[in-house]
Amino acid sequence: MKKLRVGVLASGRGSNLQSIIDHCESGAIPAMVAVAVSDRGDAFALERARNHGIPAVHIHPQYYAGQEEYESRIVLEMQEYGVDLICLAGYMLLVGKALLEAFPGRIMNIHPALLPSFKGLHAQGQAVEYGVRFSGCTVHFVDQGVDTGPIILQAVVPVYPEDLEDDLSARILEQEHVIYPEAVRLYAEGRLRVDGRKVYILQDGKRTMR
Ligand code: GRF
Repeated sequence: MKKLRVGVLASGRGSNLQSIIDHCESGAIPAMVAVAVSDRGDAFALERARNHGIPAVHIHPQYYAGQEEYESRIVLEMQEYGVDLICLAGYMLLVGKALLEAFPGRIMNIHPALLPSFKGLHAQGQAVEYGVRFSGCTVHFVDQGVDTGPIILQAVVPVYPEDLEDDLSARILEQEHVIYPEAVRLYAEGRLRVDGRKVYILQDGKRTMR
């Protein structure tokens, strides 16, 4: 089977990128990371990609007239490396028209909360402040909104009274590293079907939602 070619967009530390790379390399998912792109030249994610012989590209937003031009440059890069699926992994910029139109239904994101709760920045801090007993993470397809696209997978973690934002972040991150590669695997195996807001997972010919 031809391996799915994944392009990763990351702005920072890149632990989710690392997890996807590791799962690809171990053969756990029939995919490969074809390129990693960052808006930040100092993103550790780029170094992680290079350590695995994966092309790592810095595209500086400030060199472009606006979001559309900037994203068109990203699209060219993704196309150059034959990318089938884009995974946002700690990508801090909003996704706009150029990327969405070039990769319709082919962009995923991971968010460190149980969407639709706690969208946006500092989701883990928002959850701690709010006093919820459970939080978690969500892999979803990306649409025009911020953290609003159809949900593919979620994982739940407990929130304890003494938790600080960092404690919860670490607990959630562990689960991120499980469900993001899992979502990529399901996509690579052609087992995701989007129907309106719902993403069904094909299991032995049946549609399930896990
Ligand atoms: C993760 O918590 C992810 O959910 C959020 O940004 C963080 C990125 O972490 N979107 P990393 O760069 O993958 O380590």
